[in-house]
Amino acid sequence: MISLRSLSIIASLVVSSVIAGIVKSPEPPCKVTYWFSFGDSYTTTGFTWNSTLPSIGNPLGNPAFPGVTGGGGENYVGFDTVTYNKSLILSYDYGVGGAVIDPTLVAPLTLALPDEITQFLEGAAKKPKTSPWTSEDALFSVWIGINDLGNTFYLNGSRSAFSDLLLERYFAQVQKLVDAGGRKFLFINVPPTYRAPLIIGYFPTQLDVLKAVIEGFNSKLAAKVKAFKTQNHGVSTWSWDAYTAFNIILDSPKKYGFVDNSSYGEPGDFWANTYHPSTPAHLIFAKQISQLLAGTPWF
Ligand SMILES: *[C@@H]1O[C@H](CO)[C@@H](O)[C@H](O)[C@H]1NC(C)=O
Ligand SMILES: *[C@@H]1O[C@H](CO)[C@@H](O)[C@H](O)[C@H]1NC(C)=O
Ligand SMILES: *[C@@H]1O[C@H](CO)[C@@H](O)[C@H](O)[C@H]1NC(C)=O
Ligand SMILES: *[C@@H]1O[C@H](CO)[C@@H](O)[C@H](O)[C@H]1NC(C)=O
Repeated sequence: MISLRSLSIIASLVVSSVIAGIVKSPEPPCKVTYWFSFGDSYTTTGFTWNSTLPSIGNPLGNPAFPGVTGGGGENYVGFDTVTYNKSLILSYDYGVGGAVIDPTLVAPLTLALPDEITQFLEGAAKKPKTSPWTSEDALFSVWIGINDLGNTFYLNGSRSAFSDLLLERYFAQVQKLVDAGGRKFLFINVPPTYRAPLIIGYFPTQLDVLKAVIEGFNSKLAAKVKAFKTQNHGVSTWSWDAYTAFNIILDSPKKYGFVDNSSYGEPGDFWANTYHPSTPAHLIFAKQISQLLAGTPWF
């Protein structure tokens, strides 16, 4: 039988824990960090910069997780934010489908990288109460170039010189992130889009040109990242080689759980549609990215 005395102890325990709950302000469950991502349909989650912002319990802000992505369902941003994260990442994803590096070089479908950077500078860069990020706890990532190359590779004139121009404009934008306090940068190169179902039907000579243009751009990007790090004291960079990662999976799709290298839209396919990887493919990308950045505040 429970005595009156023990009942009153239980009652007072209940009361004191209730009081403790009221007095103690709710603490975040773990360390909060930030991720500002820029890019195109391979990155977008459909985020609108001046609507509902990322918060604890709603790490992508708007639209709700997993957002609206190029392939439908989670993409690498979503998976890295909530599946492979080692801190509570508030993810501001400025990526927009169809985005290009510079609207004066390649006509964009919608917005271009400078617009995305401006949205960051006008909002989160000002460190409002909703996003008190620091140089140490904020990751900046850029995955762009797919549309720029896909929409111009067939044109006359030196593609190499054009890639130099694209990358000059690309890094002029990235410099603005450094000026705003960004110090941790992840760069992602252009994947082998000549293997996407949308493109594989092109003439073989066209595929060869696109492949060569992408490879040229990627090797120039690697050199630019190196120079960017040298020119900006205190900046850390990581590079995820999407080009190689896609090729490894597409060369042995079964090994990675996919039926083949060109089917799309069904469970088991690498491609979600004719131009975008599926959610299972993005899960692999996200894991590789988290491994590349292992030991950082995010992963
Ligand atoms: C959000 O920003 C866009 C421009 O990026 C602007 O057109 C729109 O009016 C803004 N919306 C609000 C609610 O401020
Ligand atoms: C990872 O993110 C989820 C969703 O925001 C969060 O609930 C979880 O606590 C985070 N994990 C760690 C280890 O911080
Ligand atoms: C490229 O140059 C060739 C030869 O001058 C011309 O026939 C072709 O129309 C040009 N193509 C484009 C896309 O400008
Ligand atoms: C798909 O794989 C086959 C061999 O299994 C190869 O011949 C073909 O070139 C590949 N296609 C693409 C688009 O990668």
